[in-house]
Amino acid sequence: MALDERNENPLRVLAISGSLRKASFNTGLLRAAREIAPDGMEITIFDIKDLPFYDGDVEAEGDPASVVALKSAVRNADAVIFATPEYNWGTSGVLKNAIDWASRDREEGSLMGKPATIVGAGGRAGTARAQMQLLETLGETGSVVMVKPGVQIQAFAPGTFDSEGNLIDEKTRELLRSHLEEFTNWCARLLWPRRFVGHACEMDVALAAA
Ligand SMILES: Cc1cc2nc3c(=O)[nH]c(=O)nc-3n(C[C@H](O)[C@H](O)[C@H](O)COP(=O)(O)O)c2cc1C
Repeated sequence: MALDERNENPLRVLAISGSLRKASFNTGLLRAAREIAPDGMEITIFDIKDLPFYDGDVEAEGDPASVVALKSAVRNADAVIFATPEYNWGTSGVLKNAIDWASRDREEGSLMGKPATIVGAGGRAGTARAQMQLLETLGETGSVVMVKPGVQIQAFAPGTFDSEGNLIDEKTRELLRSHLEEFTNWCARLLWPRRFVGHACEMDVALAAA
């Protein structure tokens, strides 16, 4: 059953790339995700380039506008997709910094309890090590992460991305599409479990009649 058959609202997904460069493979991965998002999923890409380094003194004076924007984008999303490059076997500093800022939000809808998934494009390991590190961080933020099927792309394989960072390889786009499809269904089960109940139980009927 397609998501839109059981839910009139699309799943609103916030997508954050851990690379700032224009022709980034990871940002390209998120653009491709936005293009091929399955029915019932709507992807918005949030640019983290204006975020300052996390600094408790800056925070104490009040969040800068870019931090306010990040926290509110996370709150307004049903779920988050992170695209991480791999830098020295870890995620990028800028992505960790964005997550550190976002993790300071204690309001309803913050990263705590938020469904999330990780994708990535990088060197030979396809960012697997960076993704593992990010998974640990998202454990502490209390986010609920879907790991499988997984998207770990060897970005330098010829014909995978073009010179502007667009994902052009059809098989890789299909891999991404199936991960997004799983993510849509997985999020729906977490967020709207009652939509999966085919019949009302006696208690539901009694409550509805009350
Ligand atoms: C400082 C630095 C460290 C890197 N370390 C790794 C690494 O440990 N493993 C890896 O697979 N690729 C590594 N790379 C390659 C990047 O993952 C690769 O350039 C990736 O495409 C960057 O993401 P982007 O295209 O989204 O900017 C490194 C690149 C840089 C600049």
